[in-house]
Amino acid sequence: MIKIAVMGYGTIGSGVVQVIGTNQESICKKIGEGIEVKYVLDLRDFDGDPIQSKIVHDYQVIAQDPEVAIVVECMGGVEPAYTFVKAMLTAGKSVTTSNKALVAKHGSELIAVAKEKSCNFMFEASVGGGIPIIRALNSCLTADRIEEISGIVNGTTNYMLTRMAEQGLGFAEVLKEAQEKGYAEKDPTADIEGHDAGRKIAILTSLIAGCQVDFEDVYTEGITKITALDFVYAKKMGRTIKLLATSRQAGDTYAVMVAPFLLPKEHPLYTVNGVFNAVFVRGNMLGDAMFYGSGAGSLPTASAVVADVVELARHIGRHIELEWKPEKLEIADYKQQETRFFVRTSKDLSAVKEVFGEVEPIEIAQADGETGFLTSAMTEEAYAQKAAAFGNVIQMIRFH
Ligand code: HSE
Repeated sequence: MIKIAVMGYGTIGSGVVQVIGTNQESICKKIGEGIEVKYVLDLRDFDGDPIQSKIVHDYQVIAQDPEVAIVVECMGGVEPAYTFVKAMLTAGKSVTTSNKALVAKHGSELIAVAKEKSCNFMFEASVGGGIPIIRALNSCLTADRIEEISGIVNGTTNYMLTRMAEQGLGFAEVLKEAQEKGYAEKDPTADIEGHDAGRKIAILTSLIAGCQVDFEDVYTEGITKITALDFVYAKKMGRTIKLLATSRQAGDTYAVMVAPFLLPKEHPLYTVNGVFNAVFVRGNMLGDAMFYGSGAGSLPTASAVVADVVELARHIGRHIELEWKPEKLEIADYKQQETRFFVRTSKDLSAVKEVFGEVEPIEIAQADGETGFLTSAMTEEAYAQKAAAFGNVIQMIRFH
């Protein structure tokens, strides 16, 4: 019988207990033996809940119990999750976590501790919720050099942008709606400013590069400045606007960015709508692949956590090699990356041409005296210089 402990009995932790309870029989068959939740660590008590008999308040009870082989961490945040997880690994227990903040900050170190102690640290649910992207990168796509990963990895913002695209609504209106539906938090900063997506693309890039990518180094723009009018222009161009977390091979390193992008209809990410997530991967042998599904929510996320539990149970006492060295990867300077820029200004086309040269005007009936245009391909640095000299940019969105 495999005994496990769950740290954090919130949305995901309670989902983990539910998944194990509901699918006990098939999960046990896949492991080859029984599985039991022995402890649930939480600050709270759950009087009247069957889980109450398993509640402990001190993580050392779990760390010091030799019967516990696997620990699930669903507390969120860096501390005390980091201290607790490190203690579990040091005690030789394998750990799976859904906590992207912990993985982005301490992933490589925790993998090293697991290696030293012949156990494992897994984190499938930390990116893309229920979508199997981490295991795909670590196990299924290991024959490839990954040239690009571009993902819609934040359900909150994808829901908001989808509503803006489909209903012509404004940013403030869709944010309120997302909060009312429980898709956005009361303080939505981490989602709408792109910080959540930045941590996720830092984790994915660390895995494909094999060394540490610090999310603080990732150039990040959120969706707060996107307006209903931007979607009218996007439609005119046969495109839509998506918040992409993207990582592209640039020589020996990767160019990594989170920003709203104008995506063409032909791109597989174009049709990823609502709270769904998807990760597009381009391998040098595989070509293109896409992983799509529920990127958040109790049961989809818990499904990924429990899949890790099964994998951990199959490898008790044996470390699965995973390359994520602590050495920092110097990511490519985003200012040297080249793209086309869609720009809105209140100046006329001749003033635009004086600074930007030949551009492609984008005309819409609702323009109300402003000019929309598409630049030729240029570096971010060249665009920034021209925009500064021009001095009148209402909006800029990149092409993808
Ligand atoms: N707020 C996040 C999202 C939760 O919407 O994707 C999952 O990380």
